[in-house]
Amino acid sequence: MSAAAPSRPLRAHRLSALNGTAAVPGDKSISHRALILGALALGETKITGLLEAEDVLNTAEAVRAFGARAIRVGKGSWHVHGTGVGGWNEPDNVLDFGNSGTGSRLMMGAMATTPVSAVFTGDASLRKRPMGRVLEPLKLFGARYQSRAGGLMPVTLTGAAQPICVEHKVTVASAQVKSAMLLAALNAPGRSHIAQTTLTRDHTERMLTAFGARVLVESLPEGGEVISLMGEAELKAVAVDVPRDPSSAAFAMVAGLIVPGSEVSLPGVLLNPRRTGLIETLLEMGAQIATPHTRESGGEKIGDLVVYASSLKGVEVPPERAPAMIDEYPVLAVAASFAEGRTVMRGLEELRVKESDRLAAIVAGLRAAGIAVEELPDGMIVEGRGGDGVPGGGLVATHMDHRIAMSFLVMGLASRLPMSVDDVSMVATSFPEFEELMRHLGAHFEAVEG
Ligand code: S3P
Repeated sequence: MSAAAPSRPLRAHRLSALNGTAAVPGDKSISHRALILGALALGETKITGLLEAEDVLNTAEAVRAFGARAIRVGKGSWHVHGTGVGGWNEPDNVLDFGNSGTGSRLMMGAMATTPVSAVFTGDASLRKRPMGRVLEPLKLFGARYQSRAGGLMPVTLTGAAQPICVEHKVTVASAQVKSAMLLAALNAPGRSHIAQTTLTRDHTERMLTAFGARVLVESLPEGGEVISLMGEAELKAVAVDVPRDPSSAAFAMVAGLIVPGSEVSLPGVLLNPRRTGLIETLLEMGAQIATPHTRESGGEKIGDLVVYASSLKGVEVPPERAPAMIDEYPVLAVAASFAEGRTVMRGLEELRVKESDRLAAIVAGLRAAGIAVEELPDGMIVEGRGGDGVPGGGLVATHMDHRIAMSFLVMGLASRLPMSVDDVSMVATSFPEFEELMRHLGAHFEAVEG
């Protein structure tokens, strides 16, 4: 089981300006997928720019446990020798995914059509998160599972000995569920059709195509799309250069906007249109974000961003934009606190089942900072206080959620009084360099007695 790290509280102080370049680490979603697809492919997948954070390192351990070789050859550089689709062995121990919903759910899909059994567990946060959303549809392929009541981990999953292809509509707005189904379909004879009513991040589809799978994506007349994949696929190793993570860039981006006098450069950030909802929203709020240089790399759009301190105004965020910025609502709520007027965010049911109940955690954090906020079943309404009007001074409970911790530290860089968070140890799950990188821009963080 995951040993709980001791909590490490931290306080952020107001400062006059943030300046410099923030080279954030590799994209978490693409990093998980690079390891998993590499482990399913034949040959050597050479990965550069891999995010070396706890979540992704747990996925690396898991692919090794199934028999792939994953070798670190340098910082962010990894070589994965896969077994081929259907070639995974049975792990000889429990698989511990720590805090990672993505790692665990994608790996469930990837093993569901290979006749091996594996036990999946994680930390106290992951053991509260719903796994039935992935496990139930995986039964359609012939997989079987046992879980704690309510589909909670620990879970024992047994892959199908004679998998069958499926036709299934994913109704939950989750790229993880869609991806698990596509990864399972790789070893099921025939063409599987996975429909999704909401358009979620498409890295799995793009990367499967790059690894040689036969994937077709068609829009549905009623909205959404259907992805079909020819099973008994042979994946061939390819080089993967992981772009920088827009969800990590979001913290330096919002910090640069709310700290007066700031100018922050963010090179090489992934700008996949299904990940850029935050940038779109911030631009609507009046943010000055320049994209002087964009390019294509490995089938993805990448850009260098420059962010300037800006006066923001409140907006209504279209609920249909939620999947394109699902991980960015905590830091958007911080930006909204520094805006003039009210910001309305809806369509956020999924935030209740993230690393914490993020809606509740954001609302409690904003209130601790003296911000008026209304919690809705599927969202929140934040009453912005304008650039210099956020009182701050609160202590925020992070509930083992890295994005809550980072967001409220960003708030403390511009609120009148410092902001403290009760624990930053979880930041290592996605962005171990966060503190160092923000300090390099000029941030003032101070350790607090526990
Ligand atoms: C992810 C999908 C999202 C996101 C998570 C990463 C992925 O989760 O919150 O951080 O890599 O597929 P859902 O698909 O469950 O919304």
